Amino acid sequence: MTEVTKPLLEVKNLTKHFPLYGPFGKLGGIKQNVQAVQDVSLRLYEGETYGLVGESGSGKSTTGRTILGLTEATSGEVLYEGKDLTKWSKKEMRKLRKDLQMVFQDPYSSLNPRKKVGQILEEPLKIHGWANKQQRQERALEILELVGLQAEHYFRYPHEFSGGQRQRLGIARAIIMNPKVVICDEPVSALDVSIQSQVLNILKTLQKDMKLTMLFITHDISVVRYISNRIGLMYLGRIVEEAPTDDLFEEPLHPYTKALFSAVPDGTKKERIVLKGEIPSPLQPPSGCVFHTRCPFAIERCQKEVPAFREIRKDHRVACHLVEEEELDWFN
Ligand SMILES: Nc1ncnc2c1ncn2[C@@H]1O[C@H](COP(=O)(O)OP(=O)(O)O)[C@@H](O)[C@H]1O
Ligand SMILES: [Mg+2]
Repeated sequence: MTEVTKPLLEVKNLTKHFPLYGPFGKLGGIKQNVQAVQDVSLRLYEGETYGLVGESGSGKSTTGRTILGLTEATSGEVLYEGKDLTKWSKKEMRKLRKDLQMVFQDPYSSLNPRKKVGQILEEPLKIHGWANKQQRQERALEILELVGLQAEHYFRYPHEFSGGQRQRLGIARAIIMNPKVVICDEPVSALDVSIQSQVLNILKTLQKDMKLTMLFITHDISVVRYISNRIGLMYLGRIVEEAPTDDLFEEPLHPYTKALFSAVPDGTKKERIVLKGEIPSPLQPPSGCVFHTRCPFAIERCQKEVPAFREIRKDHRVACHLVEEEELDWFN
């Protein structure tokens, strides 16, 4: 499906480095850079959920925030409706905000604690020109119902809700303007497992009914599997493998993906791949393939050359010299 349709949003070679200054602050110049996101390219097709998965610190949140212009890109492009969002001013981005929304892990920080739910939900409507109070209220009540809350919640404050309900509010707030793209950053990671599935199901239903295009960020492999049509796997600021969900789980190609999957109990008898060491610092990522210091199968080439992110089979891309050299058998 992905070959023929045009992507709704396309990220090209997105890079984000955070400068770290020395003891003299900005005057002393940049000491080092945190290489949070490095050369990330991905496409979001209309109506799909793209899951971005990776361990903590791999650059998922920074990718999401940079796409939406919440932090400035160091380089690269984010194309939406033919425009490069990285070149837009804050003011222009504010207007686009109704198309491009974000759901955060902790909705409490994005919901004004002094305002009642009705006011919180109607605020974006007001900003975008819904002058009629009654229409605003009707829309707010409609959205409350869509996320599984009740009309009586309209007059409550955010602190009067449970964690799961509050995340429903965060979602309500994100979708009230009928956005095209929603970036969800670990939206269920702070919730109890039983509540997680409820919130995931709401997102899934909304996505289908409203034809939302979602970028779903999580560190949780079972969550990403449940919600995504396609998955991109991040390691140290880079996407190392990308494939449709079923393909990825049937045949992961990158040694890192294999290692991660082998650690998830799913009833099958597979060999556990244990990685050596910790994730290296993004201040000084390893040369060549960033994964080579932990890869049980690394060859000399891996230390020297950054592997290209290549399409190995239809819609299945991977950045690995071993896969490229068809030395897959080594670890199959
Ligand atoms: N504002 C910032 N300033 C400096 N470093 C940052 C900033 N935000 C994130 N980082 C660093 O960038 C890397 C990627 O972080 P993040 O995108 O939050 O990863 P993830 O969401 O996958 O856990 C981490 O090493 C983190 O410490
Ligand atoms: Mg994060």
